[in-house]
Amino acid sequence: MIPFSPPRIDDATVKAVEEALRSGWITTGPRTKEFERRLAAYCGVERVIALNSWTNACELVLRWYGIGPGDEVIVPAYTYCATANIVMHVGAKPVLVDVLDDFTMDPDLLRKAISQRTKCIIPVDIGGLPAHIQDVMRIAEEATPLFTPKVNLRVDGTNPQMRLGRALVLADAAHSFGAKVAGLPVGAQADITGFSFHAVKNLTTAEGGALAFHLPPPFEHEQLYRFFNTMSLHGQNKDALAKTKPGAWRYDVEFPGYKCNMTDLQAAIGLVELERYDKETLPRRKAICNRYDQAFANDERFVAPTLKDADRESSYHLYMLRVNLATEEQRDAIIAAISDRGVSVNVHFIPLPMLSFYKGQGYRMEDHPNTYRHYSREISLPVYHDLSDEQVATVISTVVEAVVEVMGA
Ligand SMILES: Cc1ncc(COP(=O)(O)O)c(C=O)c1O
Repeated sequence: MIPFSPPRIDDATVKAVEEALRSGWITTGPRTKEFERRLAAYCGVERVIALNSWTNACELVLRWYGIGPGDEVIVPAYTYCATANIVMHVGAKPVLVDVLDDFTMDPDLLRKAISQRTKCIIPVDIGGLPAHIQDVMRIAEEATPLFTPKVNLRVDGTNPQMRLGRALVLADAAHSFGAKVAGLPVGAQADITGFSFHAVKNLTTAEGGALAFHLPPPFEHEQLYRFFNTMSLHGQNKDALAKTKPGAWRYDVEFPGYKCNMTDLQAAIGLVELERYDKETLPRRKAICNRYDQAFANDERFVAPTLKDADRESSYHLYMLRVNLATEEQRDAIIAAISDRGVSVNVHFIPLPMLSFYKGQGYRMEDHPNTYRHYSREISLPVYHDLSDEQVATVISTVVEAVVEVMGA
């Protein structure tokens, strides 16, 4: 049996978590702060905050930007539900746009979808390939005349909508930590970038997420960090570590905030993962994806994913293979045949309009034909550090056999 995406847990991980446990400090503390500093250095930004998931981190962003009922947030139809669910959580409306053949948000359709109600755009770096973020930033700026900020908003003592004066670009980089745009790591392109460190991700903390701040002046990243830190701790102006200082017991609550901080146990895992990310994780994932490319990219029965082009390089999180000419039923039958042979594969993702909730909200798959076309043929193959070369060869031969069995050639 070849699993799809087990985390890399070895002695280094276990030792780091044990040290954190024995240190006597298990919630947010020195390891989380160190993890944040190292993430910021990696991404080339001044400040990163580590929180307990992409979902909660990015929901805080929408709340900080004052997004709510009557507002629209543009997301691709092709994404995991979390991208749109956070928009529902704050009472705003997700506006779906179709994707390009590389699975990322179509910039032309984005331009057409922007309205006076658009407060935020969330491009998604599916599978680890960055969306066309420079186009998205340009489109957001060009649409400035349409932007209608809320006048009475005061969130962090300021009105962030008046300050930015345009739709916020929040990058969904749940898959793309370590991917590159114009040679630079993802994190320093969008206004704010959200990462996920969920168990299956390239870099994991079991569960976790982070925000990299890259807002233009007059936003101050230190002040943003402090505000989000407070927001992630009930609006309490002192965190647990600050309160341990002798005599420092008194605190205030500035607003009814949320509870989504990262613990030092999670950060201990993250620090080990980050230390070996460029040296071991990315090169191994890249080698596996390149091996898949050798097998599939020149075979007309398949469509290989874009891993690299002139501007972008993937984090090699997923290898999203497509079976040319397969219907959705045939794709499902191919997956069943692959599974029968002991290989776990997956589908990323069931498009939002096909999920009961979003269908019930009136979203229709017919409005996003490219999303359906790619989803219906898609099969994600195993990619992870500990997958051996022999296992990669087994995956390749198994996929080919299953395709021959179902498609007959
Ligand atoms: C594209 C995308 N966005 C957001 C998320 C949510 O991340 P988290 O589980 O850290 O909240 C995921 C999780 O798999 C995802 O795939």
